[in-house]
Amino acid sequence: MILEGTGSQLKTAGNLGSFMQKEIFEQPQSVVNTMKGRINFDNLTVQLEGLKDHIKEIQRCRRLILFGCGTSYHAGVATRQILEELTELPVLVELASDFLDRNTPVLREDVCFFISQSGETADTLLALRYCKERGTLTVGITNTAGSSITQETDCCVDINAGPEIGVASTKAYTSQFVALVMFALMVCVDRKSMQERRKQIMHGLKMLPDHIKEVLSLDDEIQKLAVELYQQKSVLIMGRGYHYASCLEGALKFKEITYMHSEGILAGELKHGPLALVDKLMPVIMIIMRDHAYTKCQNALQQVVARQGRPVVICDKEDTETINVGQRTIRVPHTVDCLQGILSVIPLQLLAFHLAVLRGYDVDCPRNLVKSVTLE
Ligand code: F6R
Repeated sequence: MILEGTGSQLKTAGNLGSFMQKEIFEQPQSVVNTMKGRINFDNLTVQLEGLKDHIKEIQRCRRLILFGCGTSYHAGVATRQILEELTELPVLVELASDFLDRNTPVLREDVCFFISQSGETADTLLALRYCKERGTLTVGITNTAGSSITQETDCCVDINAGPEIGVASTKAYTSQFVALVMFALMVCVDRKSMQERRKQIMHGLKMLPDHIKEVLSLDDEIQKLAVELYQQKSVLIMGRGYHYASCLEGALKFKEITYMHSEGILAGELKHGPLALVDKLMPVIMIIMRDHAYTKCQNALQQVVARQGRPVVICDKEDTETINVGQRTIRVPHTVDCLQGILSVIPLQLLAFHLAVLRGYDVDCPRNLVKSVTLE
């Protein structure tokens, strides 16, 4: 399906032209559906029904291990930091295929999460069986009730994002993200020292649908950026901390549907090799947000600019320091640090979509890919 017209033309026609675009624009509602009936914003509690009989065991465990492939793996990378902070447990994030290639020890005291939109991904399912055989508690995070992962795990959270038809995952990613943050909030409910932090995060979750709408309103601006970039061969996406996952996920969207070479680069690794790729011709997108990594990201920006790079910066709309230094910016609303990754990834979803349309590709059914990878 080849789309014509700009994003805004398609939207005002009330007829979003592809499943992927429709699913990107559904995110203000799909994140609400993930939270619905589970969060009480008055008494600041979270109840994930599927986990309630196992929560004590989870609170006593020694490590959390998150498994997934592709976008679902990125949801684990995106939430690892807040899970570590709120659960005070070591958290490992594993690509299911890589985990299976090793003879990896898992312990009975581990709790293993299997993140999968379809609930049928072969590698994730095989990793689940491997962990089950070794006696760990297994938890599914899926979008498909009745799928193999929901049936074979000890307990499960349905992310309730609604069916996702576009091969490139968008709303399932943001709902997986929200579900994992809700899990972290549920685990630390009794910790006195965490109450202020929990309040901040709850507030961020409450505001999330409005913040996502605000990001989606940047669609025309992002479409114009796509017009500048669509004939390029390559795009580098750089960030760190909470936004490394957005870089990986953005780069995956670019590869999948635009067939451009794209890499998500941890900004802390720039000096260890990737900086050699930067010159005045290389398209670079950087994510710089007002969080604990801000100064380090500013340093990375200076390194890129010093090599004649002309990055587009996804930043906080109130960050005048970044906005005033003359970089092209995509300005998103500010939220609590651990949810900001949802607002930094959506511009990349939109950009990938517009680039693919301009390059004349079928955004819903990219070549060589299927929605559910049921073979190893
Ligand atoms: C990318 C994408 C894939 C899937 C991966 C795992 O847009 O959709 O990377 O995330 O194939 O699929 P699930 O989540 O169904 O296990």
